Amino acid sequence: MTDPLLDNLVQQARIAARSASPSDAIRAVLKDSIGQSNEFANAIAATEEDELLLFEDDTCSIWTCRYGSDLVFAPHEHRMPVHIAVYRGTEIEVLYKKEPGRLRHGGNKHVAAGDVVSLGPDAIHAITGEGDIQSHAIHIYEGPLTRVERHLFDWTTGAEVEFSMENFHAMARNRAEMKELG
Ligand SMILES: [Fe+2]
Repeated sequence: MTDPLLDNLVQQARIAARSASPSDAIRAVLKDSIGQSNEFANAIAATEEDELLLFEDDTCSIWTCRYGSDLVFAPHEHRMPVHIAVYRGTEIEVLYKKEPGRLRHGGNKHVAAGDVVSLGPDAIHAITGEGDIQSHAIHIYEGPLTRVERHLFDWTTGAEVEFSMENFHAMARNRAEMKELG
């Protein structure tokens, strides 16, 4: 990693993740980072990939995330808490509950620039951006996200699909197909 701002955030998040109250401590680190939203957004804009893993160990996984508004990435679980800070644009969490034979839409959480939100370990969400510019965010998960067994869910039936980045992108829908987003 070369960006000192992101490097510093990773160091702070790692300390927070090992603390006695990791959720509160990670949220505090992210809330503090909002004071430099423009600098964080520029650092995230400069990364080559829309989703970039900055760091992962047993205690936390730290990603930069950019989402446009055309595609909605498929519903999935994390099986651990996640804390999200948005620095530019708006990220939308399209929330679902799993029911027998289907997924039920459970509302949308619009996370605007300057907001920090948390999702619990049982949350299921699809994800997209809002408006003309990509959302620019950092997601911090309270565990080794790439090393836990977790699932994507079929949009219609809710059937479990093994999580992989390939499946995550292959199952994306066009925003226009999404009645959940109006
Ligand atoms: Fe997610």
